[in-house]
Amino acid sequence: MATIGIIGVGEMGSQLARAAVRHGHQVVIGNSRGPQTLGALVDELGPQASAATAAAAAEAGNFVIISVPLKLDNDMPVEELAGKVVLDTNNHMPWRDGIFESVVSGQQTVHELRQKQLPTSKVAKAFTHIQAPRLFQLARSAGTPGRHALTVSSDHPEAVELVSGLYDEFGFDTVDNSPLSESWRTEPGQPAWHAHLHQTREELTEHLRLARRRVHRI
Ligand SMILES: NC(=O)c1ccc[n+]([C@@H]2O[C@H](COP(=O)([O-])OP(=O)(O)OC[C@H]3O[C@@H](n4cnc5c(N)ncnc54)[C@H](OP(=O)(O)O)[C@@H]3O)[C@@H](O)[C@H]2O)c1
Repeated sequence: MATIGIIGVGEMGSQLARAAVRHGHQVVIGNSRGPQTLGALVDELGPQASAATAAAAAEAGNFVIISVPLKLDNDMPVEELAGKVVLDTNNHMPWRDGIFESVVSGQQTVHELRQKQLPTSKVAKAFTHIQAPRLFQLARSAGTPGRHALTVSSDHPEAVELVSGLYDEFGFDTVDNSPLSESWRTEPGQPAWHAHLHQTREELTEHLRLARRRVHRI
């Protein structure tokens, strides 16, 4: 069993914390407002959970989940995340985050950008095209016919392996959509995104093939 650091425990991060605890892991959760704001969630999660600063959560984790919208002005604890696999659930939502010119113009994907912000970590795009409540609703044990599938993208095979294992444990099949430069195939609006309510490994593979990159001239 692992200790998982989770930075950002809003809708998605808190649900991932619940899933991790349900599967026997320890979680150390953090946000930007401080551990004193996380008492209710720690109480709900029970003795396998504790709250810390985001940096301390990063330091404590065998691996770390970031479930925080990406900002161009990097607000993640780079040093504490060094050397670790970092799962990033972020989707780029221009209406929420502002327009990232290098991303919308197709120079890089949003997760290549996150990898550049965390150059000493092994970033994986994970859990991005499933809605938080469905983490439990769609989960099935391995071998169940029609099991729901999720993608992972990373430039680091070690990170792909870790995420695939976690998906299997949480109840999902994996389709490897590496490297990070290919991760636009699961962006909001792409076929895999629209099929988030249910897609098997075969269907997800086909949805990735059908994706078309949207590039905007800035
Ligand atoms: N919601 C979903 O179903 C879902 C599904 C897949 C992917 N995603 C993606 O996952 C990301 C998180 O989504 P969400 O819906 O969970 O958002 P959310 O409910 O707004 O939660 C984001 C959390 O990040 C924390 N945070 C913000 N800045 C931080 C910082 N600098 N350091 C540490 N923590 C920080 C916030 O807490 P404080 O303000 O207290 O710091 C907040 O709890 C987004 O990029 C979203 O697009 C969401």
